[in-house]
Amino acid sequence: KGGVVALNEVEESREIRFKTRLAELDRVLGGGLVEGSVILIGGEPGIGKSTLLLQLCQKFKDLSNFKILYVSGEESKNQIKLRARRLGVDADNIFLSVETDAESIENIIREISPNLVIIDSIQTTTLAASTGVAGSAAQVRECAQVFTRAAKTLNAVVIIVGHVTKEGSLAGPKILEHTVDTVLYFEGEKGAGYRIIRAVKNRFGATNEIGVFEMAENGLKEIKNPSEYMLSGRPLNVPGSTATCVIEGARPILTEVQALVCPTSFGLPRRSSQGLDYNRTIMLIAVLEKRAGIPLSNFDAYVNIAGGLKISEPSADLAALCALASSYKNIPVDPFTALLGEVGLAGEIRASRAVEMKIAEAVKLGFNRCVIPEANLRALKKTAAFDKNAITVLGANNVGEALSVLF
Ligand code: TYD
Ligand code: MG
Repeated sequence: KGGVVALNEVEESREIRFKTRLAELDRVLGGGLVEGSVILIGGEPGIGKSTLLLQLCQKFKDLSNFKILYVSGEESKNQIKLRARRLGVDADNIFLSVETDAESIENIIREISPNLVIIDSIQTTTLAASTGVAGSAAQVRECAQVFTRAAKTLNAVVIIVGHVTKEGSLAGPKILEHTVDTVLYFEGEKGAGYRIIRAVKNRFGATNEIGVFEMAENGLKEIKNPSEYMLSGRPLNVPGSTATCVIEGARPILTEVQALVCPTSFGLPRRSSQGLDYNRTIMLIAVLEKRAGIPLSNFDAYVNIAGGLKISEPSADLAALCALASSYKNIPVDPFTALLGEVGLAGEIRASRAVEMKIAEAVKLGFNRCVIPEANLRALKKTAAFDKNAITVLGANNVGEALSVLF
């Protein structure tokens, strides 16, 4: 017992999963909630964490003997009941507690013996034996330990909610990331309807997988076709609007990139960037100036990823650069041309990943032309994963070539 074993003799145990039957959430989790695992859900206050979890509870309604303990330190029982009614949650296997004392919660967990424990939120619980106020690093860490220990002995799933502030000062959730099995973060602007849940860590599935939802009247609705959603309502044939495709998790999402360029009225030109890295935006402006002869030093420039995605993939560069050029020239870019490619400092367009998958997604959404890096075009197989008759694929070596295709 203990000691050493040959790797080949270690028996693989298969984890038991409970499907949440919210397909978008199951995707992020890697196929459902894993028995005995601890999941952290972070996000800004008001983004929809409690809403999602109540909806999740309802999904286990007809799983016989599946008990859920929902511990809320955020709202009164009455408030939770009202929200449950609004969401149509009427499962009779959900037990509610508004306790905030960690030891009392631990006792309740042992008493009820649930299959799923939801702690909403970790910032409201306190352990008497610990120091500091609720939400402090010590409290958050030690309370989480108490709940995790209690749940592990029962093999229950624990979901811990953690609030994150806009500035990302997350004394709370961040310090728990390494102790839990799965970390999910809620993204999205509270004003906009869509919500993205992203797995930033997952011991039982792929990370960076995303689930897309929309906050509606009666809770979160799954968005099955994110590309369609991101492009909905985009202005056609308006200067400063282009389209690109990025890979989020395992799937391609088409999105609109917008730019606005206008003369600086006084002082230094303003630059702003929403959804695209600020330094990348500045770099693209410099490339336009130096490599494409578009002088922006006396112009304010704004870039925005419409729909609110936060893009980290450099292959969106070309679309942002062309949107800036389009706004400067006041000439629209054909709305059904997708632009893919990373832009380098020499103005070169560098190969980007998963180009075939992106083109295939563009075809699906009715795009009929695509500008991609020349290097990718040469590597495109004869047996491409998209209908070659449906779309004209053009290669570009540098920004000059790309711009001459568009203008
Ligand atoms: P909530 O789940 O309470 O956020 P969190 O737990 O992350 O703090 O989300 C509350 C917001 O969602 C609130 O602004 C109201 C809105 N909302 C809806 O738009 N529709 C609904 O059906 C529900 C329940 C909430
Ligand atoms: Mg809440």
